[in-house]
Amino acid sequence: MSYKIAVLKGDGIGPDVVDCTISVLNKVAAENGTVFEYTEGLIGGIAIDETGVPLPGRTIEICKKSDAVLLGAVGGAVGGSKWDNPDGNLRPEAGLLGIRKELNLFANLRPAVIYTALKDASPLKPSIVGDGIDILVVRELTGGIYFGEKFHNDEYAYDQMKYSVDEVDRITRVAFEAAMKRSKKVTSVEKANVLDVSRLWRKVVLEVAKDYPEVELEHMYVDNAAMQLIKDPHQFDVIVTGNMFGDILSDEAAMITGSIGMLASASLSEGTMGLYEPVHGSAPDIAGRDIANPIATILSAAMMLKYSLNMPEAADSIEAAVNKVLDEGYRTADIASDGDKIVGTVHMGELIKKYL
Ligand code: IPM
Ligand code: MG
Repeated sequence: MSYKIAVLKGDGIGPDVVDCTISVLNKVAAENGTVFEYTEGLIGGIAIDETGVPLPGRTIEICKKSDAVLLGAVGGAVGGSKWDNPDGNLRPEAGLLGIRKELNLFANLRPAVIYTALKDASPLKPSIVGDGIDILVVRELTGGIYFGEKFHNDEYAYDQMKYSVDEVDRITRVAFEAAMKRSKKVTSVEKANVLDVSRLWRKVVLEVAKDYPEVELEHMYVDNAAMQLIKDPHQFDVIVTGNMFGDILSDEAAMITGSIGMLASASLSEGTMGLYEPVHGSAPDIAGRDIANPIATILSAAMMLKYSLNMPEAADSIEAAVNKVLDEGYRTADIASDGDKIVGTVHMGELIKKYL
């Protein structure tokens, strides 16, 4: 078999973690008699520097001709960077929003998992963490307030939040399908006590739920969900929610694991097309220094093998190798504590390859 993978390294540590991940993928290919054909495209700040726009047409073309997209990170320093721009369409983030829309990547899967070896990294009390946390946030990614009508003048501005029945239906099905393979519980998060769009959301979710009688369904207001995630994360299995609530809650869920450098994500379209990227950002302060944690991107590549390239065993073997390396006490600096063996980006990749 041969697969085409679009590679969008992006900014900051994007190139560090993607290069490392490609070396792992090459080993997977060799062991499975598969060929991965990589084509690089520009996105984000680097695309602005080289072409004037965050998402050049050529990048869209490359992605559309590929079986899957592997992405590093986009954007500059959080406190301000040379790419800050009053025109939202010319910011690095617009590259990300644009590619999501162009490829119709409506379903964003963000697993928030605590690895046993990293249990102590969670900022929550050990009594709350218990023997681990395993939540899947399913975030709608191409609709809602992110993509509604926008307007601004000097006096006021607005962003419209809109969802259609079809948009809610398809993301809800993704969540229920995922729950069927997990602990069979879905928590739908909205603000139906205030918003019309949330009342429609709830109605559609209730309809879809009829097709999944085995799955327990719960509705939760977003403010309460933010509290419950910290108070008792074990009550959650799959969370399904809209674009902006999902943006916020997936960061919160990531934080309670304490290891954002470990978290992978998949953004899926209908069919097998998907874009895979680490949950963490571009961390420009540590770019190019061989210290970034590549595991989130390597685990994102594992999701790619599973969802887009039909190689679930290879995905499992990557996950097992990551666990093995952690069990042996190897850590990149971001997840290290006393007594751990600290390794750099490239070395971490080599270790994971060794245990594949
Ligand atoms: C994310 C990010 C993006 C989002 C930004 C960079 C546009 O926060 O992927 O969660 O808000 O979706
Ligand atoms: Mg976010």
